[in-house]
Amino acid sequence: MAAPVNLTELEALARERLPQMVYDYYAGGANDEITLDENRRAWEAVRLRPRVLVDVSHVDCSTTVLGRTTALPVMTAPCGFNGLAHADGERAVARATAAAGVVQVVSTVSTTSLEDVAAAAPGRRWFQLYCYRDREVTRSLVQRAEQAGYEALCVTVDVPYLGRREREVRTGFHLPPGVTLKNLEPYAVAEMAAAERDSALRKYVNALWDPSLNWDAIDWLRSITKLPLVLKGVLAGADARLAAEHGAAAVIVSNHGGRQLDGSVASARALPEVVEAAGDRLEVLVDGGIRRGSHVVAALAMGARAVLIGRPYLWGLAADGEAGVTRVLDELKNEITLAMALCGRAKVREIDGSLIVRQ
Ligand SMILES: Cc1cc2nc3c(=O)[nH]c(=O)nc-3n(C[C@H](O)[C@H](O)[C@H](O)COP(=O)(O)O)c2cc1C
Repeated sequence: MAAPVNLTELEALARERLPQMVYDYYAGGANDEITLDENRRAWEAVRLRPRVLVDVSHVDCSTTVLGRTTALPVMTAPCGFNGLAHADGERAVARATAAAGVVQVVSTVSTTSLEDVAAAAPGRRWFQLYCYRDREVTRSLVQRAEQAGYEALCVTVDVPYLGRREREVRTGFHLPPGVTLKNLEPYAVAEMAAAERDSALRKYVNALWDPSLNWDAIDWLRSITKLPLVLKGVLAGADARLAAEHGAAAVIVSNHGGRQLDGSVASARALPEVVEAAGDRLEVLVDGGIRRGSHVVAALAMGARAVLIGRPYLWGLAADGEAGVTRVLDELKNEITLAMALCGRAKVREIDGSLIVRQ
């Protein structure tokens, strides 16, 4: 095929290179994939009202997240098993994000240990935490992340049980020989064994992650770490208020890329309510369906501090390893720069609510 000119076209290239089981694991969503589709469509439905005759000869896409600079208002979302896309897995993402000056959020279920990811490149990094029923396993992950220099804990709160991703059931998703959950070895490896017409991941999650998690767990995490807590998977203003009361530093408006509750609200539609509830007590980030620089600019105009991208960097990784991820981040930077210029905004702080056409 001709060389991809945007993030969406990169998916087709990645698809050619990936085994069906892996492609379906990355691409899929829960049940009928309604929320998966709506995530993107909701960004596409936003309309912008640009200003003109503004000097945009120098556009600066940099901003701050949790008080520290990032070259772009974009981070790579925590996605499990990067090693299924490319042998370099999370290390390749570490090098590409460090070179681009953006934050990498590393998943609990990475195929490279969190220490080895940190050693791969000197960039900014957050650790995404899934809470295990065994609190000592959770505590040890937190301590290791602190020791390895991770700047924040991104606690994913929308997986009391794994959503039913029917593509994973159909393909019997499992890890091929040699690919393991490197942060958790040798703990609970047997639970990831392949099953006929069932997702090994679903069995693993439902056996080991804690479905009784509630706000007390956030207080407990605060008591065992000084790292700022970022709650990922918030869609309601009421939960943003609780997050602030329980001492979180930020929330990520997310429906897990349409992989958990199918029929849950698209993240672009949930964002305004969460931004309003957060006020100036929390930073608000958002992910789900962001595929264009104009989507990033729209998210910022709606009050997000930054966005996360999931599948697009996985496609880049599958297509061409570190260079593929670099290409995704470069392409997005070019698109954000052009979108800001065409909106008459030379700096991120100039991207305000007046850019959004209320419909
Ligand atoms: C293959 C895959 C694996 C994921 N694994 C995790 C994970 O381990 N932890 C987590 O918090 N979110 C996980 N997510 C959700 C992403 O962090 C993010 O919320 C989502 O991908 C954003 O939507 P997008 O893919 O449309 O950009 C995963 C998403 C995908 C596609």
